[in-house]
Amino acid sequence: MSRVTIYPAEGPLRGTVRPPGDKSVSHRAAILGALAEGTSRITGYSPSEDCARTVEALAQMGVETRREEDVLVVRGPGPAWGEPAGVLDLGNSGTTMRLLAGVLAGMPGFRVLDGDDSLRRRPMGRVVHPLREMGACLDGRQDGNLAPLAVRGARLVGKEFTLAVASAQVKSCLLLAGLLAEGETWVQEPLPTRDHTERLLPLAGIGVATRGGAVGVRGPARPRPFELRVPGDPSAAAFWVVAASVVPGSEVVLRGVGLNPGRTGFLRVLSRMGASVRVTPGAGTGPEPVGDLEIRASALRGTEIEPHEIPGLIDELPVLAVAACAACGITRVSGAGELRVKESDRIAGVVRGLSALGAHIAETPDGWVIEGPSPLHGGRVSSLGDHRLAMAWAVAALGASGPVELEGAEAVAVSYPDFFGHLVTLGGRVSGGGDGDDGSAGVRPAQGG
Ligand code: S3P
Repeated sequence: MSRVTIYPAEGPLRGTVRPPGDKSVSHRAAILGALAEGTSRITGYSPSEDCARTVEALAQMGVETRREEDVLVVRGPGPAWGEPAGVLDLGNSGTTMRLLAGVLAGMPGFRVLDGDDSLRRRPMGRVVHPLREMGACLDGRQDGNLAPLAVRGARLVGKEFTLAVASAQVKSCLLLAGLLAEGETWVQEPLPTRDHTERLLPLAGIGVATRGGAVGVRGPARPRPFELRVPGDPSAAAFWVVAASVVPGSEVVLRGVGLNPGRTGFLRVLSRMGASVRVTPGAGTGPEPVGDLEIRASALRGTEIEPHEIPGLIDELPVLAVAACAACGITRVSGAGELRVKESDRIAGVVRGLSALGAHIAETPDGWVIEGPSPLHGGRVSSLGDHRLAMAWAVAALGASGPVELEGAEAVAVSYPDFFGHLVTLGGRVSGGGDGDDGSAGVRPAQGG
């Protein structure tokens, strides 16, 4: 585990950052490209460890991929991938495991999906059980609820599903399985979740139907090769939006950020908290809206984050908790029980981390209550191996009164390898990290602009 120290900002944060390519879109594009027969080009593919796991898994199944700078070139063989000799190690990536489970369930061959300790604790029954209803033959520990998962491809039949949990991963898994199944597959969610799969499928020549709130595909359907520019990850951008909002005098510009309404719930919440964020939509040509954000520091007030808003900001809740500490008044989050089954139990993790920095925060079964303003002091915190907690604590440090020692800082690479480099670009200060504790914090040259 690498430990870094992040220092309170000595002055305003200033500068321009281009967040890394969107992780959710990148996973989906790589998988769809591999299902197509021919060459797809995915520009701005996420540099994250998670998305590298997807590419490595595809390569282990004989899909040819190569990187040309920030372009991932996928030469898809069509829906007939090889049988890997070994287990597919998906690291920390829940999205890879759930999406691949859907595809592999309908593709001849035998594969085993595994991951790190965190991934082995995450619920997989939510994809295994509905896939079995389509005819899939897959299993895992505790009746398929926990990885490793063993998948033997089978003939699938389309089905109509009404999901109990709002999960884009589950929806996408079932839609991808639907491409390989016979007949129609429909998914109705309890609340709308990110719709990247639905937006990408038409780019690959596949029709997506909607009926009320449900979304459907008809199989068998073959994606065709495509070209895509992946937008910047709004979940990565969120760290700088909060940092620039809470460090007095800051003015930060974020370029090329994905503005899919299913992902920008954090901007709506921050705007009602009083944040100053100017959104300039770009002339996007792809299936995803993109634009630039200009953030100026401003006084924040507490807010109520309600259950229906949760899917639209699920990954941003830890950093929104940091914003809530700087806000005047009470911020309450409810209906966010899903946070307990993310890369870590993020409800317990947020409460533990912010409490260690002096926040007035109380845990509830499905969220937390923060009494602001709750000035943060320095201290020691852990990422608990969770990338979003690591980055939230770094942002907390920028607005704290003393340095924050962060254990497990390397977790940031799961979604944002350049995170500390960008923190330095904006004027933050970090030390420690590298093996020899050489003061570099593993900080890479930043790629602003
Ligand atoms: C993701 C969906 C969300 C999110 C995760 C990525 C996706 O999970 O938390 O980081 O790419 O579909 P759920 O849909 O399971 O809530």
